[in-house]
Amino acid sequence: MANPPRPLVAGNWKMNGLSASVSELAKIASGAADIAPNVELMICPPTTLLHRFAEAARDTRIAVGAQDCHAQPSGAFTGDISAEMLADSGACAVIVGHSERRTLHGESDEDVKAKAMAAARAGLTAILCIGESREEREAGATLARIERQLEASLPDRFDARSLVVAYEPVWAIGTGLTPTPGDVAEVHTFIRRLLTGRAAGAGEGVRILYGGSVKPTNAPELMAVANVNGALVGGASLKAADFLPIAAACGLAR
Ligand code: 13P
Repeated sequence: MANPPRPLVAGNWKMNGLSASVSELAKIASGAADIAPNVELMICPPTTLLHRFAEAARDTRIAVGAQDCHAQPSGAFTGDISAEMLADSGACAVIVGHSERRTLHGESDEDVKAKAMAAARAGLTAILCIGESREEREAGATLARIERQLEASLPDRFDARSLVVAYEPVWAIGTGLTPTPGDVAEVHTFIRRLLTGRAAGAGEGVRILYGGSVKPTNAPELMAVANVNGALVGGASLKAADFLPIAAACGLAR
């Protein structure tokens, strides 16, 4: 690969954050001056804070993303938010298919694909999450699961701008457990092969993030793994003091 993709470190705030959290975003933005310029930084706050965060992050190097979208652009879908609305609020990306959406809201691979395509329609980057369960890992079925999930949820057409893939083993999310660097390398290299199999040139440029219990302590070894192009960070993205060292580790690993 001639030019490895530009790394991305994105924070998924999940259902955390109130108006006062704008001050934490400001801390992240000011601390970002010390991070290697090549690393792209993003925070995905809850939808209620999206517009405010987008305004606060204007003229900083922090991009703002959302956590989910509806597949349709508009209509009678009480409580739902379309990708177009997220873009209108200042988002440049949206997470789709997070395991918490798949598990708690019963989202299927087909739903996730429709959302990824909706993101592209609205000009957003889809951060498409996939990952195996503990049972699947223990049964040696990780790669088979990743292949099924990715093949069924990838949009029909994608490129390095419209798509980021996040490998998040379900058993590593919020548990403090992480796969070994060797296991991460195996899955990320496998995902890269699947992406280039679908679209040779575009597949090389799509960022593949690792997510699941990324902390300042384990970020240096995880970010140095082949085909790891950054991180999707949950709990440790809520505080600048944790998020910034992770981003710094990603920059140092390049
Ligand atoms: P944690 O970093 O809290 O394990 O969460 C990972 C995650 O789900 C990011 O989307």
